[in-house]
Amino acid sequence: MSRYLVTSALPYANGPIHFGHVAGAYLPADVYVRCMRMRGHDVLYVCGGDEHGAAITIGAEKEGIGYAEYVARWRAEIKHTFDCFGIEFDIWSGTSICPQHTELSQEFFRRLDQNGFLIKQTTEQLYCENDSMFLPDRYVLGTCPNCEHRPARGDECPNCGSWLEPLKLKEPSCKTCGGSPIVRETTHWYLDLPKLRDEHIGEWFASKTWKTNVQAFVTQMLEELRSRPITRDLKWGVPVPPEIADGQEDKVLYVWFDAPIGYVSMTAELTAKRGEPDAWKGWWQSPDTRLVHFVGKDNIPFHALVFPAMLYGVRQDYVLPWAVPANEFYNLQGSKFSTSESRTIPVDAFFGKYDPEAARFHLIASMPENSDSEFRWEEFQTTVNASLAGTIGNLVTRVLRFIDKHFEGRIPALSEALVPELDRAILEECGEISDPGASIEAYRFRRASEELVANAAVANVFVDRLAPWALRKTDPDRAAAVLTTLCDYLALVARWMVPFMPGKAQAIWEMLGQKGSVAESGWPELPTANSWRSLSPGQELGEVEGLFTRIDDESVAQEIAALEEGATES
Ligand code: MF3
Ligand code: ZN
Repeated sequence: MSRYLVTSALPYANGPIHFGHVAGAYLPADVYVRCMRMRGHDVLYVCGGDEHGAAITIGAEKEGIGYAEYVARWRAEIKHTFDCFGIEFDIWSGTSICPQHTELSQEFFRRLDQNGFLIKQTTEQLYCENDSMFLPDRYVLGTCPNCEHRPARGDECPNCGSWLEPLKLKEPSCKTCGGSPIVRETTHWYLDLPKLRDEHIGEWFASKTWKTNVQAFVTQMLEELRSRPITRDLKWGVPVPPEIADGQEDKVLYVWFDAPIGYVSMTAELTAKRGEPDAWKGWWQSPDTRLVHFVGKDNIPFHALVFPAMLYGVRQDYVLPWAVPANEFYNLQGSKFSTSESRTIPVDAFFGKYDPEAARFHLIASMPENSDSEFRWEEFQTTVNASLAGTIGNLVTRVLRFIDKHFEGRIPALSEALVPELDRAILEECGEISDPGASIEAYRFRRASEELVANAAVANVFVDRLAPWALRKTDPDRAAAVLTTLCDYLALVARWMVPFMPGKAQAIWEMLGQKGSVAESGWPELPTANSWRSLSPGQELGEVEGLFTRIDDESVAQEIAALEEGATES
């Protein structure tokens, strides 16, 4: 048993999250957490709002409301979406409300400074005289020096993805008033990434195996690494520690500096709530913790390089990431999700019509694991109708309804003499059974989802071959043993299903007459002839109900039409 500390990227509390985010950084983490718990590990899953920085202040100013009120609203809205998907964190907090966050972030800054990893530098920055402020990051618009795209933002170009700085933009203008900024001197602290790389992080990164996208991105970055400013002239954020500020008291920490520390401070918030204020250290400062960061591809450099450098640089024995299973982008029906252009799937309307667990399963089955992928309505329909209703749902109802009708709703008696033969039939002859848990543990979620369906398909083959409806008349003992074998196998299917569709798994468990929570039944070993059966003959079944509702062609056509209409209206 190991301890796994799992995080999902803290979403910016300045807008809704859509299915693409969910498929990229949240659902796979939730599936992983549920699976690893069943496999007996000690797991903590931490998330919350990313609530500082220019993206937030600009959004709040545009609406004319206070920063705290603005982030509180989005924090709740985002959490609602997670609830709809059944994504369950051990803690959901926010960097602006977590009681431990300011102190811990300042502590990181202070220790990095003491350990010689910060550089204080006076440089020129853009300043708007109308608004009397320096223009950090997104407060400046201009032309991208790499690709000539306009408008590029002060922190990054949306077209070519270059990581920019405001002064590099051509023809810069102030986002707030449209005026032309002037250049003025200001003092900031920089994180000495080249020094951190040379001392440890370069070697550490090279010593590990990463997903291809992470490997490629970070290897490139390590070569051209430079110091990065980690403070900003903003009125919202974690203030620079007062004893270090020395005339720069109005500066705050850069959002990308304080946000990942949120993983630590939220863990501390959780353990404090549990009455163990120091227990967070057992997670973060223990060499045998496996720290797993689930992120989308735009977050790779921060989780595989910058945050590890910070964790190392404070010299407090923080654990460095064990894995960064970063996903690619998830699109919608041929192009990007875009809230501003109504190219999206409205959460409440969707969950008013469709089954959340079917949605979980489909997003996992189509997630952008190794390359960009997309949500397509007709593919969602196929997943639901063929894999879920047609394969899993059909298996459950055909077996259990038959028992209901002909065996008085009780798991039939099993004649021992038939066991070896039936074991061989279902475990070897009707198809290959593989362990979705092993795939999940290796971050191969799509494969795991295929394995679940394939394992259910094995039992459907078994039913067809052994035809219990015919046997019932010619050889009732054998018919009974076939059905008992199927019930035992259905219990396995239910347990394999938990990470993907916890509610459906529990429903099957109860239909089999089992008490308690299927999630607490532990992860099943791959069935071997000796030890895989677990149910007691004679056990009364629960009420048998349909598990999945098929989606008809008309609904699919309507959804696609609505998407096209929304796109043309705006
Ligand atoms: N808010 C960022 C985003 O949505 C992710 C921040 S991850 C953290 O892209 F590590 F910084 F918290
Ligand atoms: Zn201005």
